Amino acid sequence: MNTESPKDTTGLSAQRTIPAISFPHQLAAAVERKRAYPYRFPRDTRQLRGKYSVAENARRLLRFFYFERRLMQALGAWTLSIPEFEVKLETGRHIFYHADAARLLRERLNEQEMRLRDVDGFRDAEIDRLIEELLGAASAGELLVGMHQVIGPALATAYRHHVDDTDPLTDAPTIRCLRRILTDYQPMLDWAEKAIAAYIEGGVPEPELALWRWHLQRLLASIGGVTGSDARTEPPAPLRSVAKPFARGTVPLRDVRFDTFKNTGDYDTADARERFPKDSYENLRLRFIRTQRDEVDAIEAFGTFIWDIRFKDFQSEYSLARITWDEARHTEIGHRALMACGYEPFELRNRLTGSTCRGPMEPAFAMAEINLFGEVGVLKTINSLIDAAAERNDALLHHISDFIRADERTHVRKGADIIKVMTDLEAKALEQRTRELFTECLVSLGAFQKDMDVFTVSRDDLEQLVGE
Ligand SMILES: [Fe+2]
Ligand SMILES: [Fe+2]
Repeated sequence: MNTESPKDTTGLSAQRTIPAISFPHQLAAAVERKRAYPYRFPRDTRQLRGKYSVAENARRLLRFFYFERRLMQALGAWTLSIPEFEVKLETGRHIFYHADAARLLRERLNEQEMRLRDVDGFRDAEIDRLIEELLGAASAGELLVGMHQVIGPALATAYRHHVDDTDPLTDAPTIRCLRRILTDYQPMLDWAEKAIAAYIEGGVPEPELALWRWHLQRLLASIGGVTGSDARTEPPAPLRSVAKPFARGTVPLRDVRFDTFKNTGDYDTADARERFPKDSYENLRLRFIRTQRDEVDAIEAFGTFIWDIRFKDFQSEYSLARITWDEARHTEIGHRALMACGYEPFELRNRLTGSTCRGPMEPAFAMAEINLFGEVGVLKTINSLIDAAAERNDALLHHISDFIRADERTHVRKGADIIKVMTDLEAKALEQRTRELFTECLVSLGAFQKDMDVFTVSRDDLEQLVGE
């Protein structure tokens, strides 16, 4: 510390009752050494102060953690039900922002004398009531209002206050943690403002959104705000979540720009004609890029899993959230690559086959399908595709598939741990049951016209038909 004089410069000096005993010769010598010291380093002006004890710090951080975890889960629950492409993509990213905020807070809580088991086991019925009500949003526009105009800004404000109020020295790690979270909040809340304005300009009635905002703000105020320490007000009534408990959607929704199909997994079959000869490089290349764009369904899959396995295991929720963001990126990569190839991305029909089957399914089987068949399947063919792209000097495909391969390898690795949390089934039994369920679903969608009495689609067929 670069203090100027031996006098106490901390904000806690008023409480000092024990006198300092200085020996004059030592003091004079110290002053002389300081005078002769040649370097004037930047001065640290922080003082010892701060409103919170470790216990109160932890109480507040625990609520922050719980909010972040619940927001991650809540957005995951809505991934199938958001029709608008841009909103679904951005939500895939926000899921991870909340997951990562939760992770940072969880680590700090562990340093503030809380066991991880207790952090993970924490529940708050009042916050749950608020989240349940948020989930009852009647549209994606309302969801954004609740997430980003009510709870999001309230959290950001609480984080800023905490940064101001806690001790900048003794609690510096908390300040750094909250500041890092806020760097994700800024672009997230800015984007949401513009997105909500776009909904309104596009015809969504503003008064309805305003009413919903007011309703959730009152509910938040009734639980004492984010910290639980504000004066409590009367809760609004009636609550939607009381009249109708939330159940997540099971059907993948798309906006009107998309032309969708679910009666096959094959693009040429869906288009009823070929663009390029089957098995040609051109065909494999376009199939790969379309599949990436159509990974909008993978945002839905992994986001939904977070909801379906909520509270089972934080690390799995976190991994799923990260994969959800990756899949949002793959979708964006596919969308841009289609444009780079000269297509209007919406002219290419969007495959809903996999997501339609997974939507209502138990998470373990849906996860086994997308992870064990879909992602493992991609890795079987991607090496030769990358080689072929290199041979042909196809820089675009080479570049995107190189990054996507790294991502998918990571997903396969993380998937193994996540599946263990989802089910006790042995690998063989899990694979068998998954194939049966998908056969049933694919037959019902018309992807197969098989009349055989006991027919189960093979692993290769699944990889091909519901490729990811
Ligand atoms: Fe992917
Ligand atoms: Fe993936």
